Amino acid sequence: MTERLRLTDAVIRYGDITAVDGVSLTAEAGGMVFITGSNGSGKSTLTKGIAGLLPLSSGSLVRTARMSYVPQYEEADRDFPARAGEIVLTGTQRPGKLFHTRRDREQALSAMEALKIDGLADKEIRTLSGGQLRRVFLARAICGNPELLLLDEPCAGLDAQSHSTLFGILRGLLEGGCAVVMVTHDISDIDGIPEGRIIRMSHGKISHSITHGEHGHE
Ligand SMILES: Nc1ncnc2c1ncn2[C@@H]1O[C@H](COP(=O)(O)OP(=O)(O)O)[C@@H](O)[C@H]1O
Ligand SMILES: [Mg+2]
Repeated sequence: MTERLRLTDAVIRYGDITAVDGVSLTAEAGGMVFITGSNGSGKSTLTKGIAGLLPLSSGSLVRTARMSYVPQYEEADRDFPARAGEIVLTGTQRPGKLFHTRRDREQALSAMEALKIDGLADKEIRTLSGGQLRRVFLARAICGNPELLLLDEPCAGLDAQSHSTLFGILRGLLEGGCAVVMVTHDISDIDGIPEGRIIRMSHGKISHSITHGEHGHE
């Protein structure tokens, strides 16, 4: 299997606080990894480290370049003056690419249709509800056709229908060879995909790792 992510002995600090303390993690093409654990256990810091937004104090990170990251909702800047459709389209951007192509626009539209927000394309994001804005960021993340998708608590605030829509999209991405790393509080999310791994974090370390599904055990 093609590896999309390999994190080895990662340590991430904020000054004197060690938020991630020696975490190793891999994700393969088509593989699903759930990260769970109590508040403050280091889940968001870990995903930011994987996304390249925080430097590792030590350890190593190897991952595919085609990655999308959706931060925890509380960190989103909703006063940014932009329309939903423009935000989604930025997900097709790549370094060195100057213009959006017709195909980019088609991909952005189909991601918005998949998340049932195509009717919101012309709305300013500050006028959207929390659940709508969350779906805008998810559409942005999937329209670039990522090989690695990092989601930090994407389901908080989603209604049941949006939740099942999201899991339908995730199953499609996994079948297409994307690796998905998702922070969740709700362990029953694992029922939404055929197989995956659950990693529990505690005080910056991995305290448990279990495999679920066809080739693993509960
Ligand atoms: N920007 C920051 N500056 C200093 N400490 C931080 C910062 N962000 C998080 N922390 C601390 O790092 C630890 C892990 O936080 P976080 O990764 O957000 O946990 P989780 O996502 O599991 O709730 C906590 O002790 C938190 O207070
Ligand atoms: Mg968090």
